[in-house]
Amino acid sequence: MFKQAKGLKYTAFMSALHRDLLFDWYLEVGCRTGRIFAPARGKTIAVDPFFRAEANIIGKKPALHVFQQTSDAFFASGFLKALKVKLSFSFLDGMHLCEFLLRDFIATEKASDLKGVIALHDCCPFDHAMTTRDLSAIPKQAWTGDVWKLIPILMEHRPDLRLTVLDAAPTGLVLVSGLDPKSRVLERNYAQIVARYADLTLDAFGLDRFNALFDYTDTAQFMAAGFPLLQPVALPETAALTPEKITP
Ligand SMILES: C[S@@+](CC[C@H](N)C(=O)[O-])C[C@H]1O[C@@H](n2cnc3c(N)ncnc32)[C@H](O)[C@@H]1O
Repeated sequence: MFKQAKGLKYTAFMSALHRDLLFDWYLEVGCRTGRIFAPARGKTIAVDPFFRAEANIIGKKPALHVFQQTSDAFFASGFLKALKVKLSFSFLDGMHLCEFLLRDFIATEKASDLKGVIALHDCCPFDHAMTTRDLSAIPKQAWTGDVWKLIPILMEHRPDLRLTVLDAAPTGLVLVSGLDPKSRVLERNYAQIVARYADLTLDAFGLDRFNALFDYTDTAQFMAAGFPLLQPVALPETAALTPEKITP
């Protein structure tokens, strides 16, 4: 049986998080309308090859960098290095195929603050149809693709990371902390991991085996406790954000 994420909706969680905590640098991959990063108040980087932004997405941000391109192209551009960006918090919700999210994670961790946190969306599917890798058969409702694989992949290859799986509806939110921007383990094993996992279905992996990998953390309680995992990387409300520095 699927262990469905039935807690507070991820949209409410993300909006409360940006309301309550200030991050020096926030990265979002897969933004579509921009509704998730709209309430962010720190310097923000938004990446999506097909934006559909209509609302006020800049709000109180001192800087908003919008890249209408794939995350691979963005990470290859050298922007993060040029600005010496240290990401405080990142939300990865781009292409829902495991190899894409794995690449997004690898590149994001490299540019993250040691105390930073990376949130992976849609890793907790609630039926098999939504896990398809067939881009011509994407269900009309929710599509998680096969990014659920990031949970076993990170657990196996990066036991040094801490995974907190929030029951944020409808398809969970995995908070990854204990980041090591210098680690090259995933990069070195990338081809082997993709070869092992790409064609694996959740059925073949075993639903019970997947369920046994984690217990949910209650999203509303985590929020009521003041987002404990994210507090160490948040800035005091009175902090002046570090100015942007471009290195030629
Ligand atoms: C599920 S939607 C994101 C929804 C948004 N985060 C929200 O909660 O409202 C996935 C987004 O990923 C974008 N996307 C697709 N391929 C991508 C890629 N290679 N790199 C970055 N974003 C990509 C799509 O254009 C789409 O807007």
